[in-house]
Amino acid sequence: MLITLPQALEHAERRNIGLAAVNTPFFESLLAAIDVGERTGTPIILQFAQVHESIVGIEEIGPAMVEMARRSSAPFVVHVDHGEDIDYIRTGLDIGFNSCMIDGSLHPYEENVRLTAEVVDMARSHGEIGVEGELGVMTGNENGDPSQGVADATLYTDPDQARDFVERTGVDCLASSFGTVHGLYRQKPHIDYELIARLRAATGVPIVMHGGSGLSDDEYRQSITHGVRKINYYTYAARAAYDAIVPLVEDENVFLFSNLAAAARRAVDGKVSRFVDVLSLTGNGHGDPS
Ligand code: 13P
Repeated sequence: MLITLPQALEHAERRNIGLAAVNTPFFESLLAAIDVGERTGTPIILQFAQVHESIVGIEEIGPAMVEMARRSSAPFVVHVDHGEDIDYIRTGLDIGFNSCMIDGSLHPYEENVRLTAEVVDMARSHGEIGVEGELGVMTGNENGDPSQGVADATLYTDPDQARDFVERTGVDCLASSFGTVHGLYRQKPHIDYELIARLRAATGVPIVMHGGSGLSDDEYRQSITHGVRKINYYTYAARAAYDAIVPLVEDENVFLFSNLAAAARRAVDGKVSRFVDVLSLTGNGHGDPS
């Protein structure tokens, strides 16, 4: 079933847990995320980022994401991730996505405010559509760019500016920069938990972590405790899928692509499943899942 982004955030808020927001730009990742949602009953945000157009089009995989989420008995949000322009986001909403992110973080501040407020207006006129904005800059991208992987503290989100941004745009949650980066980590990240808490207090809205794969259980838990509610997750699941198929490619008894696809699905399932467990265990004291 589809639930809205505010409903999913409210669910997480009440339980003091984090929501897994999983990018699914290949079919096996979508199947895996749906399976995990159905096994756990925990809301999962299925995401498609504009940068993943190089793998598959939102108009190709988007309808499958929406339909599988709708048909499922488990709760899902279907979210346009890192929308760079309003037309792209509108395409996603027309397909049936019920949540979106406008990433104006690379624009000058006033332009980011203007663009984000415009997307909020457009989204509300489409119905109950959640909107995530972004302020502050995170380096790297979630499409395998190998040159990145180190955070730059001079680009972190400023709490006073974040308060002004949320007031003027009306976003439901805010992607912020506080130490994570997209893609593979080249150095152990140093997450600024105090900054997360200040951002949360200043804005009054849930904080979104990007670059969420590749962190330790403790880093997830601390981030959630300090005010993160949505954690975006992709690179390390896609990497696990890659690692799972390498031995099969080298095995002369395996010669069908479908065997590789099945192995990739299992690998993503394992990663997402564990991720959801870790994010869900922060609030209720069930202890370490490992
Ligand atoms: P990673 O690919 O680094 O996990 O980040 C995902 C993300 O932030 C998508 O928006």
